[in-house]
Order: sequence, then C-alpha cells, then structure tokens
Amino acid sequence: MDNIRRIPVAKLQLGMYVSDETPNLEDGSIRPKGFIRRHETIDKLIAKGINEVFIDIYKGLDSPYSIPLKSNTQFLSPKIALQEERDKAASVYNEARSLVSGILRDVKLGKLIDIEQVECLADEINGSVLNNPNALLCLSAIREKDQYLLEHSINVGVIMGIFTRYLGYEDELVHQLVTGALLHDIGKVRVPHHILNKPGRLSGDEWTEMKRHVVYGQEILLKSPGVTDVTLAICGLHHERLNGSGYPIGLDESNINSYGRLAAIVDVYDALTADRVYHQGRPPADALRFMLDITGGHLDRGLVNQFIRCMSVYPVSTLVELDNNRAAVVISSNYTKPHQPTVRTIYNLRQRHYEKSKDIDLSSPLIEQKIIGTLDPRDYDIQVRDFL
Ligand SMILES: [Fe+2]
Repeated sequence: MDNIRRIPVAKLQLGMYVSDETPNLEDGSIRPKGFIRRHETIDKLIAKGINEVFIDIYKGLDSPYSIPLKSNTQFLSPKIALQEERDKAASVYNEARSLVSGILRDVKLGKLIDIEQVECLADEINGSVLNNPNALLCLSAIREKDQYLLEHSINVGVIMGIFTRYLGYEDELVHQLVTGALLHDIGKVRVPHHILNKPGRLSGDEWTEMKRHVVYGQEILLKSPGVTDVTLAICGLHHERLNGSGYPIGLDESNINSYGRLAAIVDVYDALTADRVYHQGRPPADALRFMLDITGGHLDRGLVNQFIRCMSVYPVSTLVELDNNRAAVVISSNYTKPHQPTVRTIYNLRQRHYEKSKDIDLSSPLIEQKIIGTLDPRDYDIQVRDFL
C-alpha cells in the first residue's frame, strides 16, 4: 500500500493516477479513477464537492502534497479483549436471532417492518464491532444448516458493519448500511418454502421465482415507514453485477452505486462460506480467492481488494496448520501482524486425533509456533463451528 497516497483535489495535477482504492462518496455515487488528462476533470471533482482522492504513485505522478495512507485496520483495532466482548456479542447475536426471525414471521403474515427496531439492532451490532469485531465474527461462523435466511441476514449485517468501519465510513452511514444489510433479503419470505430450501438445482421457473425476491423485498420495504434510500438501494442492487449479468434489471456498472457494490460483496462472501443443508461452506480464504476470480465482470475489484485486506490473511474461523503438526482455528485477527492471529489448537495432524483445545496468540514473543498454511476442514471432517 506504499504506492497509494491521499491528496486534496485542489492539488491534483495532470498525469496523476486516481486509484480505485479511493473511497466511494457518502451519497453512494462511485469514486473517480484513472489518469487525470484534462483540467476539466479536476474542476468536475471540485464541482461535485469531492475534497480528497487517493492517487497511485506507481502508475502516475506524485506530488509534495500527497500523504501516505494510515492503515485502515486502525478502525478495527479491538478496544476490549475477545474474552470480555464474547458474552456481550453473544447476547447481541441472540437478540438479533429473535428480532430478525420475528420480522421474517411478521412480514410473512403481511405486517409492516418496524424499522426502528432494526435500527436499534444495527446500533448494538456496531457497538460490538467497535469493541472487538472478532467476537461477532466468531459467532457468525457458528451456523445451523436449516436457518440460512435468518443467519445470512444477520451475518450480512455484521460483516457490512465491519467492512464499512474498515473503510473509514462515518458512523451514521455505517448505521444505515448495517440496517439495510439486515433487511437485504426480506423479500425471500414471499418465495415459496420448497423453492427457497430446495436441496439441489432450481428449475427454470423456480429460478425465475427465486430472483423475484429482490422485487418482493422492495415492495415490502416501500410500505414500511422510515425506510431509507440506503436500505432500498441495498435490497434492490445486491444481485446486480457490474457486467450487466445480474438481476432483477441487469443494470450496468454506471447504474450500480457503492451501496449495491458493497452489498454484493458481503452477500457473496457470506453465501460462499455458509453451510447449507446440501453442502458445507467454503473455507473463508477459499471464498476470498473465488471472489477475486470473479471480480472482473461481477464485483467491484477495488472494493474486493479492500474486503480481502479487511478480512485479513487468515480470516476468523479459518482452519490453519501450525509448524508443530497441529490444526488450529483462527479466533481473532491481528490487524497489525496479520500473519500472527490468535488461534485455538484443536487437532493433532500427525496422530489424527483431537486434543484439548488451547488458545495461542501467535504474535506473543513467548510463542514459537507459526502458521505454515491453511487447511480445508472438509478434508479432516472437522466442524470448525464446534470450536468457536
Ligand atoms: Fe438476495
């Protein structure tokens, strides 16, 4: 990241390269990027009210006015130890379960959503993320196979909170984005149960009905007093793709704002890592690699790169191999030393049996073990969620 620097728009010059790492604008419109070739481009940025952009000094010119970026991970530095936040996060997650399942049930019965309740939940989630993002991340990896819609709705909210905090978004916008993320799939309550939970490939007609959940969701939300444009955008855009291959409209990238791009990334990540009735989810690092592969046409590459950095080298719930032949689960990312997270050892790989688990902070000077790679829990029949 040494190549990316921030600079006031008024100090931009021809020949500079505006990086696609520049944060998106608070109104959801997309950041500028590419070479500055004309003075009018700078004037347009000023007219739009943009004060600052990021430039890539490997691709274009630098200037004495540019400033190195502070690491975004500062925004996620835990204020409270994981053990301390864990109980509080567990009560937030339980509250989320009962609130969101109540909303899903009520909406199915034709009742309106109490947006204020969802906003209170978003505040609780954001409070826990501020204390220690690892606590809710651990909980979101403990899934019941038959609770997909409920857990997916909560987890997309949690991960949205963590990601947008990492991106340095203002508190109020983070709050609105988490609220929207919690409701992004609300339209699925109108999709018949046998289609929603079909353990296999959907037929053409079934897939058409499944895709309608976006439109159903918008209809439900529009009737709910107090719903914001951010929530509507997240619901309406989370399945649109930059190359126009998404649904329900097939919008192209010029019509997908940053809220939709963020929601698509968080939604895909949680869906890939989720255990379903008919298959086990992908390991987190595997899901991130897959997302990088599809960024070209589908997802916003700059944002996916930031998302990968936010989730860290070894995301929470990753199964890793230590150099003493032990398998361990990552329970807490280390944002300053990403290769040295805190792990819970669970399994002896040489003798192939479980051992009494032990938490180890790999960054501690007293610890000599280190990670030598990631493991796929499916190869060892290990249920990671049992150890979080
Ligand atoms: Fe969806």
